[in-house]
Amino acid sequence: MTRIGFLGVGHLAQEIIDGLLRSGQPASELILSSRGYGPKLAARHGIDLATDNLQLVAAADIVLLATRPRDAVAAVAGLGWRSGQILISACAGVQLKELRAAAAPAEVVRIMPLTASSLGASPTTLYPDLPELRPLLGRLGSVIPLSHEAEFETATVSAAIYGWAQMLIGLGSDWSVAHGMQPDAARRLAAETFVAAGRMIAERPETGEALLQSLVTPGGITECGLKVLAAEGVEAGWNRACDAVLAKLTDGAPVDRGA
Ligand SMILES: NC(=O)c1ccc[n+]([C@@H]2O[C@H](COP(=O)([O-])OP(=O)(O)OC[C@H]3O[C@@H](n4cnc5c(N)ncnc54)[C@H](OP(=O)(O)O)[C@@H]3O)[C@@H](O)[C@H]2O)c1
Repeated sequence: MTRIGFLGVGHLAQEIIDGLLRSGQPASELILSSRGYGPKLAARHGIDLATDNLQLVAAADIVLLATRPRDAVAAVAGLGWRSGQILISACAGVQLKELRAAAAPAEVVRIMPLTASSLGASPTTLYPDLPELRPLLGRLGSVIPLSHEAEFETATVSAAIYGWAQMLIGLGSDWSVAHGMQPDAARRLAAETFVAAGRMIAERPETGEALLQSLVTPGGITECGLKVLAAEGVEAGWNRACDAVLAKLTDGAPVDRGA
């Protein structure tokens, strides 16, 4: 049995634990650190609770780290890591070299899951790619392996875009309610419109550009709104927001771009 430990059981870890259990992962294969939601989730699902992080690392083959980024390196240091263990960090902006130094000789990888892990719907980025982790991460949604750490950092901006997409859905829903739709119908329509748009780009072979062009009938409603958005500088604002997140993630530090 492969034992999975959770070091840092807060908001994200709770969603991941829900997703693993929902997918059929036995609770007996998990063990939780004793802070945050650890005691509550252990009691609710019958999961073992470690007395401390030393015991957690001693008991686990794979440890998922989900503390706040500023706590990550100190949280994994001095825990008696063994060769053959895997440390999976979900901590945004915390680089492999810092984690490897603190958790040697464990193997260290980074992932960036979304809270949709609880629904089995997280596109989860992974670097470096460890094929033996695919079945585990696949329980949370699709796995997107990346080829170097700088690419992983760029991809992590999508974790912020996930929140912005929810904001846009909220704007669409609120606007629809203000213009006469029932709240439940407006919320469902706004959310499922984003799901539909994403699925078309994810699942159809055409380029995103081609799919968009197929919607933009000259003189039609999509074109009408796109003209307003362009005049308002939405694309430039969007790109500036992505740039700001990437700068925050990397904090000016050089990132390994692979060989
Ligand atoms: N939230 C998301 O949607 C999301 C998505 C992708 C990635 N992430 C990443 O996931 C990480 C966690 O985010 P979050 O939103 O889940 O944060 P959070 O709710 O604040 O959870 C962090 C947890 O870590 C615990 N912790 C801190 N130091 C610890 C230690 N030494 N030993 C054991 N537990 C410790 C905290 O316990 P106390 O409460 O006792 O301090 C808290 O329960 C972040 O690094 C973030 O970048 C989050």
